[in-house]
Amino acid sequence: MAIPKAELHLHIEGTLEPELAFHLARRNNITLPYTDVDHLRTAYDFTDLQSFLDLYYRLMDVLRTQQDFHDLATAYLDRAATQGVRHAEIFFDPQAHTNRGIPLGTVIQGLVSALDQAHTRHDISTELILCFLRDRPATEAMDTLQAARPHLHHITGVGLDSAEIGHPPTKFTEVFQAAADLGLRRVAHAGEEGPADYIWQALNHLGAERIDHGIRALDDPALLTHLATTRTPLTVCPFSNVRLRAVPTLDVHPLPALMDAGLLVTVNSDDPSYFGGYVHDNYLGIQQHLNLTNEDLRTLARNSFTASFLTPQRREALIAEVDAYHFD
Ligand code: ADE
Ligand code: ZN
Repeated sequence: MAIPKAELHLHIEGTLEPELAFHLARRNNITLPYTDVDHLRTAYDFTDLQSFLDLYYRLMDVLRTQQDFHDLATAYLDRAATQGVRHAEIFFDPQAHTNRGIPLGTVIQGLVSALDQAHTRHDISTELILCFLRDRPATEAMDTLQAARPHLHHITGVGLDSAEIGHPPTKFTEVFQAAADLGLRRVAHAGEEGPADYIWQALNHLGAERIDHGIRALDDPALLTHLATTRTPLTVCPFSNVRLRAVPTLDVHPLPALMDAGLLVTVNSDDPSYFGGYVHDNYLGIQQHLNLTNEDLRTLARNSFTASFLTPQRREALIAEVDAYHFD
């Protein structure tokens, strides 16, 4: 069994495997612009974040019904259980669905029923994080937050994702303040492709408690010191960074430099069906390519719970599982 861990950076729409995409397309009478699974996989050759996002949003067209969202999340959680995931904080992109005419309630009810089932079937705890699309207008994000109000008992926090460059965090200051006023936790993608200054903005203007990706922090020594002293977690996604060419190869991934700078680093899968592996695959990949020891992996697993929004009681219980884990 893989080491127990939390996954804190996972877009549920990014877990859509090609086989499930074709299955849902058939079920919903949709014709995909690909002849079969192998043909679709040839499209997974990305040059940057935008080239991935284009396919990511296009394939979401197969997600139409509550059952579709349920099946998507169930497939992820069944897989996550085999990867040692004991807790998952799951992103979803409401605007990518409501802008296609899918009601928000359909999305959330479908996801929640799957999360409830996983709790019983796999003893995995979960949280949902509603992400705003930063390449859409800030007013649309505010409308989305208002539309989510009847569902807030299912939602732990808000996040910020999609095309980063040209869409600075300050564009969303007002909606993040409104989310905080509603008692929601706040995270934001920053410093994936965009500059270190976007990380400062996410911290200072959005009140982000965690930074998703954040690898560009290495460009700014004062920011590194700040992140280390405040114990602000980074949710780093190694396979994603390589596939989207934010980092040339896994062998030169900056994860060790971030750990050496004293940051609270976690390892996550981002969009595993598109990037060649789930979260434990990322752990094994970095271990092999960055010469990490088993004890380094234990530190990363411990960090994943420390950085989570878990209650102190479950956090401590899961950290005790990490400490007791025996590597084969
Ligand atoms: N949405 C899904 N995956 C993403 C990523 N890696 N960066 C920004 N937005 C995303
Ligand atoms: Zn992401």
